[in-house]
Amino acid sequence: MKAKLIVNRHYQIGEIDKRIYGSFIEHLGRAVYGGIYEPGHKTADEMGFRRDVIDLVKQAAVPVVRYPGGNFVSGYDWEDGIGDKAKRPKRIECAWQSIETNEIGIDEFQAWAQRAGAEVMMAVNLGTGAPADAKNLLEYCNMETDTRYANMRRENGFEKPFGIKLWCLGNEMDGPWQMGHKTAEEYGRIAAETAKLMKWVDPEIELVVCGSSNYDMPTFGEWELTVLQHTYDLVDYISLHQYYGNQANDTPAFLARSVHMDRFIKGVVAICDAVKAKKHAQKTINLSFDEWNVWYHSNGEKLAKWQTGQPQLEDIYTFEDALLVGCMLMTLQNNCDRVKLACLAQLVNVIAPIMTENGGRAWLQTTFYPYMYASLYGRGTTMRTVAECDCYGESIPYLESSVIHNEEKRELTVFAVNRSLEADMELALSFEGFGELLPVSHVELYADDLKATNSADAQVVAPVARDLSGCKGAGQSVSLRKHSWNMLIFRY
Ligand code: AHR
Repeated sequence: MKAKLIVNRHYQIGEIDKRIYGSFIEHLGRAVYGGIYEPGHKTADEMGFRRDVIDLVKQAAVPVVRYPGGNFVSGYDWEDGIGDKAKRPKRIECAWQSIETNEIGIDEFQAWAQRAGAEVMMAVNLGTGAPADAKNLLEYCNMETDTRYANMRRENGFEKPFGIKLWCLGNEMDGPWQMGHKTAEEYGRIAAETAKLMKWVDPEIELVVCGSSNYDMPTFGEWELTVLQHTYDLVDYISLHQYYGNQANDTPAFLARSVHMDRFIKGVVAICDAVKAKKHAQKTINLSFDEWNVWYHSNGEKLAKWQTGQPQLEDIYTFEDALLVGCMLMTLQNNCDRVKLACLAQLVNVIAPIMTENGGRAWLQTTFYPYMYASLYGRGTTMRTVAECDCYGESIPYLESSVIHNEEKRELTVFAVNRSLEADMELALSFEGFGELLPVSHVELYADDLKATNSADAQVVAPVARDLSGCKGAGQSVSLRKHSWNMLIFRY
């Protein structure tokens, strides 16, 4: 099969905000307890954080981590998780029917994030919580005043404020499964009042208001319109969440889901801009795709209730899942003019690219690799390309691609998935305006078996270096194997 990718130096989509390579840690299953935190583990540091996990998070250069939920946050009292550990209450946690020991709270997570080189994106409880709780939490984290909550932070050993910039106004408030679920009208009002208070406390923060929990929610569209009518002037981003699965075992349809994701993004952009026009506003609302991933292998699992650190949602990812994750990352990159934040949900053990054994090894799922390479090499400007290739089904192109120009490094990075399950692809590259290009590297992720998985014992699906030396970029071709993910780097 033949395909062509045309890139012209003058045609760009926009600058990538590195925060689109963010991730997410929720108090859920073994994400915190047994994931990032395991005192007694041989790699644990003095706070009980696993150094082997931190090293893998750093390997992917994860810039920002959303915390502490997720559904969890909608019942969370952040004051339970600060101060003397011996005095912290144990609580029933209703979202995931577990017991929260509160051994880890905001102070510890902030310390973990610093060690991992990431910024914290904090979610506040707008389910069972009130605007005042969010205001107090913000005072605790960011204020230097001689006042109750700022002083509480000092008493807990943190003289300097954390300076947390990104804040989510609740989580999935449109979902009936959410504690404190609200109508768009109810949520719009409480989100506006909370945003107002929070920006009075710290005008430097950026706020994310909840959009729809997925594109197929019956309230999609109306929800965004109503919520933005109430909050437009007070918030900076609106959230999108979306998970995909291959329940029907239809791989071509599964690999096409990034096209659905693209439609979702464009739909939300249109709604934001409609509200902007209606309000005669100058300001533009951007998008925070703060939960996205493949999630379905663990659907329907039955677990004992009221446990701590029990394995939950531990999807073991296949090679085809990694292909879709790669395509979804390209979709985020190709929408970087409006998607400024995004979080792969989640980071450790729970629907995660990084897995741990209790007391044992940490290992990488198939999905880690496209995520890591996008985060490391997908920084710069996304180019507006013209791609010519055959399509299947409902106009799904066999080629999914993105091209990132890193001016500082004088590099062009092409991310590409060949969705065909049968045919290799001869991809002709036409780069205009960059002069002579030198091939630097071709990294490929490929497995014969679409259902291949990794484990602590075997990295069956792992990237390999391919020879790119014959490909000088302009007018030349590179071969992309059937159902493969690829990263090609050229220097000029
Ligand atoms: O990431 C798992 C869950 O998915 C989150 O808690 C929730 O926000 C979403 O429904």
